Amino acid sequence: MTNFPAAEAAHSRLGVAAQATRRRTFAIISHPDAGKTTLTENLLLAGGAIRAAGAVRARGENRRTRSDWMKIERERGISVSASVMTFDHAGLMFNLLDTPGHEDFSEDTYRTLTAADAAVMVLDAAKGIEPQTLKLFEVCRLRDIPIITFINKMDREAQDPFELLDEVSSKLALDPAPLYWPAGSGGRFKGMLDLRRDMFLPFQKKGGGAAGEEDGHPAAIAFRGNAISRYLDPDEQEELSDNAELVLGAGKTFDPQAFLEGHMTPVFFGSALRHFGVDQLLEGLGSYAPPPKAVAARKAAEAIHVVPGDREVTGFVFKVQANMDPNHRDRIAFLKLCSGKFSRGMKLKVQNTGKQLSVNAPMMFFASDRELAEDAFAGDVIGIPNHGVLRVGDSLSESGTLRFAGLPNFAPEILQRVRVKDPLKAKHLKKALESLAEEGVTQLFRPSIGSDFIVGAVGQLQFEVMADRLREEYQLDVIFEASPYGEARWILGDKAVLEDFMSKHRGAMGNDIDEQPVFLAKSSWDVGYAVDRNPNIRFERSKERA
Ligand code: G4P
Repeated sequence: MTNFPAAEAAHSRLGVAAQATRRRTFAIISHPDAGKTTLTENLLLAGGAIRAAGAVRARGENRRTRSDWMKIERERGISVSASVMTFDHAGLMFNLLDTPGHEDFSEDTYRTLTAADAAVMVLDAAKGIEPQTLKLFEVCRLRDIPIITFINKMDREAQDPFELLDEVSSKLALDPAPLYWPAGSGGRFKGMLDLRRDMFLPFQKKGGGAAGEEDGHPAAIAFRGNAISRYLDPDEQEELSDNAELVLGAGKTFDPQAFLEGHMTPVFFGSALRHFGVDQLLEGLGSYAPPPKAVAARKAAEAIHVVPGDREVTGFVFKVQANMDPNHRDRIAFLKLCSGKFSRGMKLKVQNTGKQLSVNAPMMFFASDRELAEDAFAGDVIGIPNHGVLRVGDSLSESGTLRFAGLPNFAPEILQRVRVKDPLKAKHLKKALESLAEEGVTQLFRPSIGSDFIVGAVGQLQFEVMADRLREEYQLDVIFEASPYGEARWILGDKAVLEDFMSKHRGAMGNDIDEQPVFLAKSSWDVGYAVDRNPNIRFERSKERA
């Protein structure tokens, strides 16, 4: 199905740095319902990774039948699984990272975005910037991820495009630089003007299908030529011309450097559903989205930058997904490569544990299939099957001495006690909870007193997904109930000071899955009180694994 092996062979003589340069690793961020799934599918179609619309969904169905976890996804109409899809197009290798749209899974999304070198922000043309768009945008800004804007659903009644751009500029403090300008919207949507080339791209109302299909949208024509009258009446042409003049006159011409620095966003318009504007977006991604950049890391005690062209193979795990196939209890760690040329069978070391791993069955994920990855370069994401050796946030390298910064755990917002209905299965429960916590989806705390398991999560839906997975994947019926704790803080400080604090607060102490001490408080007021009384202790809301 994929054109990957043949295309890859053509590039096999490129050096490590040149290979990295042709990678475009990006994520799509949006508020639920703005059209992320539809756009994903149509980008894969535009990139030649799938041949017909519906394939992504079919793949989804396939996965859903394998896991009840996905049933929740289906019932709720949300996407909770994040994965990567790779496709080779126009001499470039695109890695599209799928991020869950629901805010209860924001931590997962945050981690996935650490692996993205660019993001496409999808806006519903009728709604503009919605709450979840804003949140995800803030994460991108925090991580300096350049953003491309796609204003979707132009085939429906839309807000005035000038107002939409004003919203981008005022709510996100980002300079929008339109590369296209739409002619109308909804029933009067006629197409769009390519502002850089002065070409008009007509939108075909009915029968406008996928690229390459016979009844696709008509080819672009010169905006100032006679043929334009076939698509626009004189008033429409004049209006579009005036608007284009306004846009270009406003001086917001696209500046690639400002985009890379996060001050400017190129703006595309279209309709993902009607496969209009999607080829242009993909072209924009190829031309403007950056290849992987240098990443800050530590080697022994020294702060360094890992450059994609470096010889040593390095990368970090940003996601672990267990039981993708429950029959095999498999666990796949998604590794974003940061440098070097990875080859199948290579030995990599995990920095914090020193464990060595022979990566014999690395996988790459295509729209329709997984394949063994023979080679991979910076920017690529490979899936490494393992039995619990790899955790979210792990740094892998040939030397094992390199550590990338910053894949934090966040203090959970909800803490609940979990009990298994059949008490004989308590031991089994411990293993299952640990395994799910190692995936990084939920957090697990053991209070110092008693035998409870406390599970921490960002949102309620995570508990439901967890209960579902425990039932399906581990045959455990569990009950979540209120816990005495409302807040968790990792505590750091001098050993003696910490021991003194822990002995005085035994009833409020626990350990996380790495045996690090955690202060489990009833409320934020209690945390504040403890902070005031213990100036020599740091109460942390997030933790990076040592
Ligand atoms: P999401 O992943 O961001 O949540 O959005 P998704 O792609 O599932 O799209 C949400 C709804 O918006 C879907 O309709 C989808 O068909 C529609 N949609 C997406 N892009 C466009 C577009 O460019 N134009 C129009 N008119 N609609 C668009 P639905 O009825 O909820 O689902 P379905 O029955 O079509 O699957």
